[in-house]
Amino acid sequence: MYKIALVGCGRISKNHFDSISQLKDELKLVAVCDIIPERAREAAEKYGAIPYTEYDLMLQRDDIDIVSVCTPSGLHPEHGIKAAHRGIQVITEKPMAITLEAADALIKACDDNHVQLFVVKQNRLNTTMQLLKRAIDKGRFGKIYLVQSNVFWQRPQSYYDQAKWRGTWEFDGGSFMNQASHYIDALYWLIGPVDYVMAETATMARKIETEDTGVAILKFRNGVIGTVNVTMLTYPKNYEGSITILGEKGTAKIGGVAVNRIEKWEFEEYDDDDRLVMETNYNPPNVYGLGHLPYYKNVIATLNGAADANTDGRSGRKSLEIILAIYKSAQTGKKVALPLKL
Ligand SMILES: NC(=O)c1ccc[n+]([C@@H]2O[C@H](COP(=O)([O-])OP(=O)(O)OC[C@H]3O[C@@H](n4cnc5c(N)ncnc54)[C@H](O)[C@@H]3O)[C@@H](O)[C@H]2O)c1
Repeated sequence: MYKIALVGCGRISKNHFDSISQLKDELKLVAVCDIIPERAREAAEKYGAIPYTEYDLMLQRDDIDIVSVCTPSGLHPEHGIKAAHRGIQVITEKPMAITLEAADALIKACDDNHVQLFVVKQNRLNTTMQLLKRAIDKGRFGKIYLVQSNVFWQRPQSYYDQAKWRGTWEFDGGSFMNQASHYIDALYWLIGPVDYVMAETATMARKIETEDTGVAILKFRNGVIGTVNVTMLTYPKNYEGSITILGEKGTAKIGGVAVNRIEKWEFEEYDDDDRLVMETNYNPPNVYGLGHLPYYKNVIATLNGAADANTDGRSGRKSLEIILAIYKSAQTGKKVALPLKL
């Protein structure tokens, strides 16, 4: 039984609380923290924990084994590092940081204090994505030529106006860093390391510092060419969150609103996995999907020494680096090679 605390009782915290509640034999929520007192109090009452409005004070408890960091993205490193220094295992929401320097500081703090760092990339655990990953690992596509990801969602101005950190460079980043970061992570996870990127981004309609729309070309080291199309301006609502892979001996598209539906699945050679295609589709309650519960199961298995972390700090850093390269290319108008120089 691990005692867990959570900081940042906002929108995504519900997925964490629900997952923790479902794992009651393994996890016990002991404390929650938010600088907005009502949010901390409400979560504490609903899920049976002690509320805090000061993170440092919560960390002074001596019974916390794990902290889940669900604060604005730019604060993840600070909150994770403080927990690591107390010897507490760290789960951080994505993205783990919005600069590589801060991501590295978080990784180092966790290494130095011998605690695990888990970056929530729950989409990797979607049934659909697991099936696609298996098809790639089995070599069913033959040589992969092209990959495309579309994130055609809608975030109205009211979404950005909900909290001051949204749409800022310091705490959030734009549609690539926030909404599309799962998709960039998926491309890295499925296809491999990126050689260089080229990108164009724009703030076309929302009143925010960062981009609401953009297109990136990713050239992978294994020769695959990828494109990522992202906009938060899709009329009238979220329309598509997809990944399409085109290879020598197979074509597959995982689409729906958030990679929840297999829309194309055609391979030269039969595999028993083909029978799972229909039952793999699911209807997610929202674009966050259902992946937090299996993500937490992996955290527990990893801490028990029975599994490897689904996404550790170093793996979480990869997509961050690709996104920062996309931003650099959009700003300079040039091709940007990876790894990025710090
Ligand atoms: N995995 C996913 O699919 C997914 C989905 C949505 C959001 N997220 C990530 O989760 C994070 C939070 O997003 P959200 O939509 O829940 O935001 P939110 O604004 O709804 O919630 C953030 C909460 O953190 C609190 N907070 C801010 N500073 C704090 C501090 N210093 N100490 C304690 N609490 C503090 C805020 O008061 C707020 O309640 C972001 O990094 C976002 O990228 C991930």
